[in-house]
Amino acid sequence: MASLSIVRTRADLRALVSTLRQDGKKIALVPTMGALHAGHLALIEQAKAAADGVIASIFVNPTQFAPHEDLARYPRQEAADIAQLQAIGCDGLYAPPVQELYPEGFQTRVVPGAVAARLEGAFRPHFFGGVATVVAKLFLQVDPDVAVFGEKDWQQLQVISTMVRDLDLGVEILPAPTHREADGLALSSRNAYLSEAERAIAPTLKQALDQVAGALKRAPETLATVIDQAKAELIASGFHSIDYLEACHSQTLEPWQPGDPARILAAAWLGKTRLIDNRGLD
Ligand code: PAF
Repeated sequence: MASLSIVRTRADLRALVSTLRQDGKKIALVPTMGALHAGHLALIEQAKAAADGVIASIFVNPTQFAPHEDLARYPRQEAADIAQLQAIGCDGLYAPPVQELYPEGFQTRVVPGAVAARLEGAFRPHFFGGVATVVAKLFLQVDPDVAVFGEKDWQQLQVISTMVRDLDLGVEILPAPTHREADGLALSSRNAYLSEAERAIAPTLKQALDQVAGALKRAPETLATVIDQAKAELIASGFHSIDYLEACHSQTLEPWQPGDPARILAAAWLGKTRLIDNRGLD
């Protein structure tokens, strides 16, 4: 197995990319914040199938966290991440320090449009600006042909696809299906925050999405009632509050109207942990 090249500076990254690019080879980037799990490894596998060389990035991006959020306690386990990337045959890891992406005097940001305004954007107004800015910078630094993003963060996927189109970034975005535990819970680095009791409750979020998707398929006129029921059941199961549970247009994220391609999205709090999930109709 070829060994994993670990780079932390733009200069070393450029050298790695030019080695991987030799003979016109295709490069894929898998941007992550680390704490890698089977969902991330599936993104890497998809990248390997789509390109000749795969670079994963690990960067816990400060600009996508508000001051009251979990930047300081976000799980960091670089040694374990490196072992997993090595075992799966990833070619490169770009794990820059903060100043490599946000040097002294940094002041320019990407401002996403309407696709970022609702749902996550309404509850975490700083979030998509931070994501779009760091992803644009990673694209410019790595210059990949393709980049793989999980459907677990469905709105993020739409924000990034829109940014790539609007700014002519020339990177093909490949969506990767959400990885789930056997009981339906979507894999997420933040699942590590859940207590045993909370972990037992967590799959209810997926059940709520399934309930709403079922209503949308069979009897769309019952949508509002079914959403209210599903929210009440989430609270009864032990979720503390629900930021949103909505059926939306799958690309614009505007409220779903008959005839729209649909996506059901949810964010809810279980203790101190905020879980998000989504699904389509099929
Ligand atoms: O989905 C994530 O892990 C992050 O939002 C991303 C895309 C790596 C940007 O920091």
